[in-house]
Amino acid sequence: MANNKLFIQTLQGKKTERVPFWFMRQAGRYLPEYMALRKEAGSFLDLCYNPEFATEVTLQPIRRFNMDAAILFSDILVIPHALGQDLAFKVGEGPVLTPVDNLERLKALSIENLHKHLNPVYQTVTNLAEKLPNHVALVGFAGAPWTVATYMVNGKGSKDQAETRLMAYQDRETFQKLIDLLVLSTSEYLIKQVDHGAEALQIFDSWSGTLPADEFIKWCIDPVKQIVKNIREVHPHIPIIGFPKGAGAKIKNFVKKTKVDAVSIDTSTSTTWVRDVVQPICPVQGNLDPMLLVSGGVPLEKAVYHILDHLKAGPHVFNLGHGIIPQTPPENVKRVSDILLAYRK
Ligand code: CP3
Repeated sequence: MANNKLFIQTLQGKKTERVPFWFMRQAGRYLPEYMALRKEAGSFLDLCYNPEFATEVTLQPIRRFNMDAAILFSDILVIPHALGQDLAFKVGEGPVLTPVDNLERLKALSIENLHKHLNPVYQTVTNLAEKLPNHVALVGFAGAPWTVATYMVNGKGSKDQAETRLMAYQDRETFQKLIDLLVLSTSEYLIKQVDHGAEALQIFDSWSGTLPADEFIKWCIDPVKQIVKNIREVHPHIPIIGFPKGAGAKIKNFVKKTKVDAVSIDTSTSTTWVRDVVQPICPVQGNLDPMLLVSGGVPLEKAVYHILDHLKAGPHVFNLGHGIIPQTPPENVKRVSDILLAYRK
């Protein structure tokens, strides 16, 4: 059956009159109704693994702002958790894991209970496929192997992924094994999301920007390419969006090699370059600076029209260059949504 949703049509490269939009991290701490449910759930992870609550949290921004796509509420770190790595989210600190930085620790992980552990997430996808308004598309997601590995190896977030880049040089064989495990588990996870009703997928490689060119090919392009191939063997037509954040000029090779259907563009990349170099090869998504959503006012509105006008000749999904910042006033998100709903190409 053909999918007529504006967001899906755009990802298929078709011309649409209005630019579809959603915002990365559109569910989250900037919404008081999110804070209320997270408190009721107990912790962030409890929220992720509670299908009823996770469904509700996914729907919250859609009710307020009427986006064209809803992103499943979960986190990229449920994969290491499902493989058996300890994980906790500490308030004000972010994720904390027991580092997997040698062969012995890697061997303690197992893919055996992957689906059993992630079953609540699949249930959330099923709920959402049922509950979403007809015009809203459901986006499933996962972290790319490199980005997930940076948390697994270091045990927490890091500024420049130093520990993981070092392990990739010093213990290349073990690191390759870790990436292989992530390619396999992430492929299976994303395939299951589509089985349960996800209509598009996004693969977040938030920290690919610190990789030198050759390492970018090895740890970003190659694993994502393999995941895309694995998914396509089961779901040949599911649109897949890549997000190699910080990749700059390497975006073009990323798209060609991985064969993603569309690419999400971060804030640092100019829209004229995207228009001239990326849009001719695939639909693009992006790339408003999330800080402008905090700031609001005339600079915000100007930037929104600037992006729309630059990218209107080709397929474009309006989005941010990275996730919504917790300090964002919801009324600024409302203002941008209203502009986007009224804008015609
Ligand atoms: O609305 C949505 O986008 C849906 C859900 C979503 C979350 N995380 C929820 C979340 C998505 C798509 C993610 C992706 C994610 N998670 C990424 C890739 C995208 C990016 O932002 O770069 C990464 C690197 C993570 C890992 C992660 N999760 C970190 C580093 C943190 C702590 C930092 C922070 O923002 O608090 C999280 C926590 C997290 N994931 C929250 C939410 C709503 C905040 C948790 C809370 O409620 O306190």
